[in-house]
Amino acid sequence: MISNTHECIETDFLVVGSGIAGLYTALKLSRLGHVHIITKDEVQESSTQYAQGGIAAVLDKGDSWELHMEDTLEAGDDFCNKKAVKVLVKEGPDRVKELIELGTRFDFIEGELDLAREGAHSRRRVLHARGDATGEEIRESLTDVVRGNNNIELKERNFLIDLKVKSNKFAGALCWDHDKKTLSFYHASYGILASGGCGMVYKNTTNPGVTTGDGVAVAYRAGADITDMEFIQFHPTALYHPAGVSFLISETVRGEGGILRNEEGHRFMEDHHKDAELAPRDVVARAMVHEMEKSGSENIWLDVSHLDEKYLKGRFPKIYHKLQDHGINMAEDLIPVVPSAHYMIGGVKTDINGRTSIQGLYACGEVACNGVHGANRLASNSLLDGIVFGHRIYEDIRAEGLNRPIEIESPMEIPDIGEPDIDLKDLRDDMRSKMMDDAGIIRNRNKLLELDSWLKDKIETLGSINSWNTHAYEAKNLLRVGMLITRSALLREESRGAHYRSDFPDTKSKWKDKHTILNINHHKGYVK
Ligand code: SIN
Repeated sequence: MISNTHECIETDFLVVGSGIAGLYTALKLSRLGHVHIITKDEVQESSTQYAQGGIAAVLDKGDSWELHMEDTLEAGDDFCNKKAVKVLVKEGPDRVKELIELGTRFDFIEGELDLAREGAHSRRRVLHARGDATGEEIRESLTDVVRGNNNIELKERNFLIDLKVKSNKFAGALCWDHDKKTLSFYHASYGILASGGCGMVYKNTTNPGVTTGDGVAVAYRAGADITDMEFIQFHPTALYHPAGVSFLISETVRGEGGILRNEEGHRFMEDHHKDAELAPRDVVARAMVHEMEKSGSENIWLDVSHLDEKYLKGRFPKIYHKLQDHGINMAEDLIPVVPSAHYMIGGVKTDINGRTSIQGLYACGEVACNGVHGANRLASNSLLDGIVFGHRIYEDIRAEGLNRPIEIESPMEIPDIGEPDIDLKDLRDDMRSKMMDDAGIIRNRNKLLELDSWLKDKIETLGSINSWNTHAYEAKNLLRVGMLITRSALLREESRGAHYRSDFPDTKSKWKDKHTILNINHHKGYVK
């Protein structure tokens, strides 16, 4: 148990999360006022750090924003917010140039940016760094600048518990500082959620352990609209491991010629789509499930044995060495791969300036949903999304003029922090397996209904426990996000992009402009 006293910190901006969206937006906002960044682990623990493929932007003479837009819309399966896509592809190149000015060193070849190709891109337009360590390079360069900025305080190991909202206006947030073992209340003018996705909801994921959907769950509890949560992107090629411990094998490996083979060694993707291995991710992931079901195998095989070992080692150093640690020589052996949860396409609903349905609360990066990714995100558009819409938040607040934090009578009620009387690891493991089986790549009404009632029961059990710690909060957030996915998937009675219902296998034109929305007052959700 801890005492009920806590520190109250006055600040202009509270940014939650330390991936590309959080760090970059904080840097921009520091021009307007004082910024606190809180991140629940070490600064490097975010999906950005593990991004391999790269960041897509039109920087080649033979390319155009129109082509990038066309590819994004096509991958998005007729569901993207066209206005948001136009912003992304037109403003993207300037934002990437800013990253370079801030110190990010992308790979060059003969004096030109070395642009890679990924699935569903009609051109080579993916910038990468240190081969397949793109995210790490971006994160390191941004962290260096953040650490040197006197207007930013970076608080690691600080966990966001809940937001304070008064009359639908953001007022601040309560956080738990793991080092000091105290609660802090940030009384801030603006809150910016940049806390990433929710891969840990699923048994198989390419995401790191921090991705427990906290931002979405906290925003939901605060009353924000959450949208399009049925769209969870599964990446076709994560390293298969019986325990579900995954490691991403970048799509650029297929972009450079990697072939997918089934148990018989057959190159099956040519039978499913004209772009074979480089078809949209949802198409590849479903074809893989189909092949695995047909043969009863647990995985598919990725074959790059026709590529030169020296080239593979230089182009994909991280993947090469990681596979070596697993006893696999990618230049000789087939790599066992399985589709894994990779990206949360839905999230906290925002407009194209990052505004949520709560005044003063913004969101950008994976936690946000402005419709830019439609029903299926185009590879390497997510790092770009983080900086383009982070910049938009800065521009929006700059144009409006900085407000003072709203007056509040008391900071926030203090939860009781202690050990919950429940095995949280078992609960999480059970949930992740169930989500994989029932709300994963292929869904149907009966399975989703069963899952919904299981989740409801667990949420009630956890909710009736009076003692809390941050692990319990994470579990509570995971269950809530699982339920948001499940209920949204139940509402959408069609298949589109990353959402596939075996009981509604067709894409229906009447659903083209319809979005699922859940909030605390509409917990079963509605369609708009
Ligand atoms: C990859 O390297 O395959 C991931 C790129 C992405 O998801 O955008």
